Amino acid sequence: MTAQLDSFYPTRVAFGTLEEIHRAAANALSADVLDFVEGGAGKEITLRENRTAFDRWRILPEPMSGVGTPSTRTELLGLPLETPILTAPFGGDALYHPDGHLAVTRAAQARGALSIAPEAGSYSYQQVRAAAPGAARIAQIHPFAHAALVAERVTRLGFEALCVTVDCPVGGFRTRNMGNRFDPDQRHFAGNLTGEDGAPGVAEVFGQLLKRGGVVWDWAELATVAREFELPWIAKGILTPAAAERALDIGASALVVSNHGGRQVDPAPASLDMLPAIRAAAGPRVPILLDSGIRTGSDIYLALALGADAVIIGRAAIYGLAAAGQPGVDRVLELLTEELRTLMILSGAATIADIDRDRILRAAA
Ligand SMILES: Cc1cc2nc3c(=O)[nH]c(=O)nc-3n(C[C@H](O)[C@H](O)[C@H](O)COP(=O)(O)O)c2cc1C
Repeated sequence: MTAQLDSFYPTRVAFGTLEEIHRAAANALSADVLDFVEGGAGKEITLRENRTAFDRWRILPEPMSGVGTPSTRTELLGLPLETPILTAPFGGDALYHPDGHLAVTRAAQARGALSIAPEAGSYSYQQVRAAAPGAARIAQIHPFAHAALVAERVTRLGFEALCVTVDCPVGGFRTRNMGNRFDPDQRHFAGNLTGEDGAPGVAEVFGQLLKRGGVVWDWAELATVAREFELPWIAKGILTPAAAERALDIGASALVVSNHGGRQVDPAPASLDMLPAIRAAAGPRVPILLDSGIRTGSDIYLALALGADAVIIGRAAIYGLAAAGQPGVDRVLELLTEELRTLMILSGAATIADIDRDRILRAAA
């Protein structure tokens, strides 16, 4: 008789590693869609830096820590999180799997994570929220002319916070897409084309992003519209202390330190490298999320140690989605959380708040 060990290690059914999920996603997608997902702007320096920035830090082990069952529970703007992970608002989701954000959001709900419903998604805000109302509580909007209408619409739908993308007045100079003559079916970005009230939606967003150089809002224009928001709003795409201060000045309740996954300004600094200065500028109480480059549980640990309260996963969620729909995203969230939990035990952090700067070390150059 073989002893049956209670093991986290994969059975025949589940994906064993995130790398396996990444490979399955790469096999599932056509070359041009894969490039759209994987690619960055320009020379892709930022895309690469987003990963290597994490490699410059080390986590300090704590022998005999006495921490056996750490808690990954936390909260953001009063919304509970069983794990400090949100899924990103990414457009074109049905290009990666027919269930798109419906699958992502259901997986997030099952794992006690939150999902940010995108404006340029394949499904409407209403459909994403109906799929998993426990996770679909934040709606992402672009600060274009129709922003007030969209904000009103998502407020009526029951969303509890807005995520305003402030770093994307036009799409970045995405060289891979240009090489591929990438021309996706715009319906995949048109889930919010019209609201139930006929409000303008993503058609306008898409036009703006492709136009390069139409009307681009400044902080004062955003401030005017944001004053009317009935929900707290999160500024997504903050990469400097000055931008953090501007966003907070005009009423942002939280920040996402992000370079849009290396898809906008290239070369821009890695999100992780800018996080400590932004935390210092924002002060200790402003909720800060980090995205751009999160691929492992150790990445999450380092982001939290350097000042983030939670992280957002973009491509990691897309890999799970493309590989296997909802179960794929579920496995990504499970693997990330289990690695984080393991590191918390090994480094003596009993709670998310325990993960601080003293537990990590900048590696020698
Ligand atoms: C395919 C794709 C589409 C995206 N679409 C949007 C979008 O419509 N709005 C937005 O705010 N961010 C969008 N993003 C950026 C993500 O929200 C997030 O900031 C980024 O993916 C984080 O980096 P990571 O992919 O390295 O995790 C998109 C990212 C990808 C990869």
